[in-house]
Amino acid sequence: MKHIITPLDLSIKEMDSYLDLADRIMAAPKKFSHVCDGKKLATLFYEPSTRTRLSFEAAMLNLGGSVLGFSSSESSSATKGENVADTIRVISSFADICAIRHPKEGAPMVAAQYSKIPVVNAGDGGHQHPTQTLTDILTIRALKGRLQGLTVGLCGDLKFGRTAHSLITTLARYANIRFVLISPLELKIPDYIRDTTLIQKNIPFQEVERLENIIGDLDVLYMTRVQRERFFNEEDYVRLKDSYILDMAKMNLAKKDMIVLHPLPRVNEIATEVDQDPRAVYFEQVQYGVYIRMALIMKLLEVDDIER
Ligand code: NCD
Repeated sequence: MKHIITPLDLSIKEMDSYLDLADRIMAAPKKFSHVCDGKKLATLFYEPSTRTRLSFEAAMLNLGGSVLGFSSSESSSATKGENVADTIRVISSFADICAIRHPKEGAPMVAAQYSKIPVVNAGDGGHQHPTQTLTDILTIRALKGRLQGLTVGLCGDLKFGRTAHSLITTLARYANIRFVLISPLELKIPDYIRDTTLIQKNIPFQEVERLENIIGDLDVLYMTRVQRERFFNEEDYVRLKDSYILDMAKMNLAKKDMIVLHPLPRVNEIATEVDQDPRAVYFEQVQYGVYIRMALIMKLLEVDDIER
């Protein structure tokens, strides 16, 4: 039984096979509409979510399975003091697979230790978000045709942004990737990523504060929201929240074939005028998220992936 807690729980080969399966699903989704008949997905969301939870649920429904779960800790027994270990023991007898989002870093890993069913981390605090990354790389591979040899800019809250952490960890495993990390000084990537993922592996990267100076170098620009809920005080958030606003003036400095991704929700960091630009692919990205989660559920449940 496999759990997906960080992107490193999948080898590159496995990751590529997930992307390949997602491509096949995308080409003919109807052929997969019964492969999970009778299976259940539990979504245990202790933190707000729109896309991730609904995309997991849509994925399971598209495969013929069903879903159960809760969408806030207030509506679960967590308010009565139940811990994640006990909750997952119980859920293991209701469902075949579960996706868990939790404000505490490491909570999904604890759940996995007590679970009898595959556990997928749907975001743990400011740590990791592996299925968003699978979504991101499926989008990049579909639209740029490759994952190697790209200059990837990540912009915004690189300190608390778990999607950025998982994406850097993953893309660093592909050949000839160069990162440009664009953030205010206070929101730079955590040391554990800079040291173990980038420096020790000799991955080229630069850390800069101004987006407009380097946007012209990028093949992919990954914008992120300043993670208000992880700040210790509101003043710091207010000071930093509008550090970056991608608008058409900046887009005009970028390559004609650069693509702009964003895990969403967007707050202010991308002006709505950019939505019209064909390089803005963040709404398409959401659709890729459903296909990759369909592939992930099939792989983790080891259901027959022969098209029907
Ligand atoms: C992200 C998350 O929850 O980390 N959202 C998502 O899952 N699509 C990004 C964010 O909340 O900023």
